[in-house]
Amino acid sequence: MRKIKLSVPSLTEARNRRKEETLKVFYSLKDEYKGIGNGKTYSVLTYGCQGNEADSEVMTGILEELGYTQSDDEYNADVVLLNTCAIRQNAENRVWGVLGRLKGMKKTNPDMIIGISGCMPQEPEATQKIMESYPHIDLIFGTHNIGNLPKLLYEAYMSKSKVIEVLSTQGNILEGAPVKRALKHKAWVNIMFGCDEFCTYCIVPYTRGKERSRDKEDIIKEVMELKEEGYKEITLLGQNVNAYGKDKYDDYSFGDLLMDLDKIGIDRIKYTTSHPRDFDEKTINAMATCKHVIPWLHLPVQSGDDDILKSMNRKYNMERYHYIIDELKRRVPGIAITTDIIVGFPNETEEQFEHTLDLVRYCEYDGAYTFVYSPREGTPAAKMPDNISAEEKDQRLYRLNDLINEYALKGNERFIGEVVEVLVDGDSKNGEDMMCGYTRHNKLCHFKADNKDIVGQEVKVKVTEAKTWFIVGELYNE
Ligand code: 5AD
Ligand code: SF4
Repeated sequence: MRKIKLSVPSLTEARNRRKEETLKVFYSLKDEYKGIGNGKTYSVLTYGCQGNEADSEVMTGILEELGYTQSDDEYNADVVLLNTCAIRQNAENRVWGVLGRLKGMKKTNPDMIIGISGCMPQEPEATQKIMESYPHIDLIFGTHNIGNLPKLLYEAYMSKSKVIEVLSTQGNILEGAPVKRALKHKAWVNIMFGCDEFCTYCIVPYTRGKERSRDKEDIIKEVMELKEEGYKEITLLGQNVNAYGKDKYDDYSFGDLLMDLDKIGIDRIKYTTSHPRDFDEKTINAMATCKHVIPWLHLPVQSGDDDILKSMNRKYNMERYHYIIDELKRRVPGIAITTDIIVGFPNETEEQFEHTLDLVRYCEYDGAYTFVYSPREGTPAAKMPDNISAEEKDQRLYRLNDLINEYALKGNERFIGEVVEVLVDGDSKNGEDMMCGYTRHNKLCHFKADNKDIVGQEVKVKVTEAKTWFIVGELYNE
């Protein structure tokens, strides 16, 4: 067995990491690894957030550079990589299920290499479980090791035992790796990695390492290239994009970056995820003035109660959150706002939960991802005594979802009769002659189209109907 370098999530250790220097690492492919995938197939299965989707595009880029081609069967290929998520227990459970399924595949194809990457391997308990209970897994690597994929695959072919490389929780910045983008009109652009917020319930600061921003010049260059290649939309990615630049610049922050990217002229700029604590005036100003930054914001609130927010270590209160929402609605008229909410955080009372319902009524969110709190080992909240029953937590989730859905429908109904611009993604599942895409307010829109040659184009659609999760319309010709 190869040496394992594992990092146990530790709050004190992780908090000291800010002082550590971040290195920019340039990807290069050694001659000895070239062509190791020739004649072989691959499949990359992605779970979790957009950060993982972006990472999978890098893994895919590297695999194709090595000579592999994409398999038709996503569960059967010469190399199958699972890019995993650890944010909640049910995200992990899905991966355990797929690993079971792949076991059968490996029986019929013993040369198949199965690898597991992403956030789960950064958790020592998960890696331990893989080693003990899943002998058919050949390769385990963490979020900081993607650039080493050629070497790891090479070693997996050469060695007869598992290859494991899960590096510390800090991490460098990888530049110059090949990327195979899933789409031709929409692209992810990482602007920073990691998270230093340490919300007490969250595993991400441990699995994704410390906050580290890419050089602004590298981001601007990437977006200019995307514009030249014909991309219509970019999504700036980071666990907390509003902290962009804090680790690097004295007087250049996320708002400045938005302003600079806006000048490039790519049609649509959006970003995720934001944190209310770091959401500053410069960003509000950029939202209000940048022509290409779309009028949509995902601003996770997690709870509408000040004491729960404190216990979550969110570092803002309701007064501040209301202020941001009010300012955004005033300066960006019609802005669509979505959020994330956790119910059943340890010891949340009925009254505290009702404060969250009050907040939903105040903000009139266009949509929300809602979750029942899931304890993650190694995080401070996992040690907090929890006296809410599972039934009560589920009840709160249902009540919250009912209210969220009511406002989501309202948020869609406001577009009925209006002509909206839809960036077309492709065929819709709502009918054979239907296509779909997203509006500038990030609303999913289904519409009838005879000519299907409009993927990647922005078309005008007159909205005729609103549902909770989407709007419906007809192509509009002036
Ligand atoms: N339990 C439930 N939800 C969580 N999230 C993060 N950690 C947990 C957890 N332990 C939610 C938060 C975050 C979103 C990505 O996932 O709402 O914003
Ligand atoms: Fe997790 Fe909080 Fe960081 Fe978001 S900001 S990734 S919830 S620690």
